[in-house]
Amino acid sequence: MTQRLDLQGRHIVLGLSGGVACFKSAELARELIRAGATVQVVMTEAALQFITAVTMQALTGRPVITSQWDARMPANMAHIDLSREADAIVVAPASADFIAQLAQGRAGELLALLCLARPAARCPLLVAPAMNREMWQHPATQRNVAQIVADGAKVLGPGSGEQACGEVGDGRMLEATEILEEVVASFQPQVLRGRRVLITAGPTFEALDPVRGLTNLSSGKMGFALARAAAEAGAQVTLVAGPVHLPTPRGVQRIDVRSAQEMHDAVMPLAPQHGVFIGTAAVADWRPVQAQHHKIKKDSSGRAPSFEMTENPDILAAVARLPEGQRPYCVGFAAETHDVVQHARDKLVRKGIPLIIANHGPATFGRDDNALMVVDAHGVAETPRADKLTLARALVAAIAQRLQHST
Ligand code: C5P
Repeated sequence: MTQRLDLQGRHIVLGLSGGVACFKSAELARELIRAGATVQVVMTEAALQFITAVTMQALTGRPVITSQWDARMPANMAHIDLSREADAIVVAPASADFIAQLAQGRAGELLALLCLARPAARCPLLVAPAMNREMWQHPATQRNVAQIVADGAKVLGPGSGEQACGEVGDGRMLEATEILEEVVASFQPQVLRGRRVLITAGPTFEALDPVRGLTNLSSGKMGFALARAAAEAGAQVTLVAGPVHLPTPRGVQRIDVRSAQEMHDAVMPLAPQHGVFIGTAAVADWRPVQAQHHKIKKDSSGRAPSFEMTENPDILAAVARLPEGQRPYCVGFAAETHDVVQHARDKLVRKGIPLIIANHGPATFGRDDNALMVVDAHGVAETPRADKLTLARALVAAIAQRLQHST
């Protein structure tokens, strides 16, 4: 996949406070730059004990600033200049002491000072804690974390697992790619804030016997991209996924299922708790009436086995039939090989849904990019060919716009 330039034109101040996790900040700087950002690194004295300014300068192409009294700053007001230039400030790693400084509004060192001086209305502060698990769990740290969140910072993680000190628990700094995802998300319009979105994704697998089954070529990529885009837009997202090997987007609650019936049974009780339902899954239309308990063996007769099939429930149509008050805003997908728009229009009516996203089936399955048609009762809008995350963000915007008009 080609590198996404989600941070093109953005300027990020990357702050490092003291901690072994500083080694991950080198990779984070590189990830931010690969995503198109310019990066200004600011390090505390403690951070300089863990990684050198030379490394960070070489990776970012900019001298690292470590002192409020750095004479290179034109007006000698590093805290103002740096925070006014920034589109976001990311502190990674944020030590327990640094979080305590933020919570108290202290400004003894340049990094804390520029966080205090940041124009809060337009420059988000993202803080990635990294510390020993006992330090993280300490009530003082937890108080401080709650305070900085109340003051408008976004706390990323921390992750859980093996720690540099040899202990195991909460307090690991998130990985560079996870932090990158959060930084990218912080720039997305929050058009679904406060909404709950339920999405189905991937193929289903209808067992014939314990080792064989009927499935299809859906990769789940579009549904997973939509889950990520909806979460980036501020929604609480539940993703019901058929058998796919894709990582769960950050912040998304995932439920894995296998068959269409399992998908149906997972979706139906959840649907009334969600304001939006998006069916991207390629649900098998049919399943064998009875899966065999044992592997079906060849015999010498030369006859192939035959299977009695029965129809699977139509999940989208079932959600769309929920009574008013329990029914989310329903969005369907239609992959067709011909007469794409006409089939999509028919499907709107047949399934009783307000919006359907149509595409050319063989041109989408498994691919990273696609072109879509957004079809509703009023007409058709085409989206140009793009990668699936770009398309997903456009669809989230289109859905949010319709929700605004319908509420
Ligand atoms: O009927 P068809 O499979 O063409 O419709 C596609 C749309 O309906 C997709 O949104 C798909 O997720 C949904 N669907 C479903 N349950 C089925 C079949 C399709 O939710 N059994």
